[in-house]
Amino acid sequence: MKKIIAVDGPAGAGKSTVSKICAARLGYTYIDTGAMYRAVALKVLLSGKPVSEELLDNIKIELDESARVYLDGREVTKDIRTPEVSRGASDVAKLGFVRSKLTELQREMAARGSVIMDGRDIGTQVLPNADLKIFLTASVEERARRRFEELKLKGLAADLAQIRNEITLRDKQDSEREIAPLAQADDAVLVDSTNMTIEQVVAKILELAK
Ligand code: DC
Repeated sequence: MKKIIAVDGPAGAGKSTVSKICAARLGYTYIDTGAMYRAVALKVLLSGKPVSEELLDNIKIELDESARVYLDGREVTKDIRTPEVSRGASDVAKLGFVRSKLTELQREMAARGSVIMDGRDIGTQVLPNADLKIFLTASVEERARRRFEELKLKGLAADLAQIRNEITLRDKQDSEREIAPLAQADDAVLVDSTNMTIEQVVAKILELAK
């Protein structure tokens, strides 16, 4: 039977890492909705113009089974992970016409089979009838530290204080916007991963999914 798991939470809580692993173990499709907002932001940046409904009319966003992201037929998996695109994604995510377009696409994707979908408004707006809702969080210090370690591992320059500031700003903007803000659904299970390993979070979600 088709099952739906919604995972929401602030930036850097580990949503995509654990959702990807859970999806593989359960045989579900993983859908990263943040990547879709990032793809819109990248399209806006590349166009050099303000975001418009026209720009979204013919946008093509695809996610493959390995969570690679395609914008208008071109792979942009790495291009959407820059700090500039992160900020742009949080900006376009405030707009009603962007949200309705992506929400529609996300519901179409979820209709195809069992999915684990992560984002900010999946349990509250996109898939309110999900079989299991998780609100995954961690302290801002821990989330910044994880992002810092991730960048260091990739050999990229990183500044812990700057990462912490960026995360705080993005959380504030995502939680305070008028349409579909980041929020825990009433029926979501809160998982605070501050002192948990990836494997512990995965085990917790799989247990709840049983
Ligand atoms: O999960 P992420 O960091 O890749 O998401 C990028 C931005 O997209 C995030 O700052 C807020 C927005 N977003 C959203 O508003 N709703 C979603 N369902 C997913 C992401």
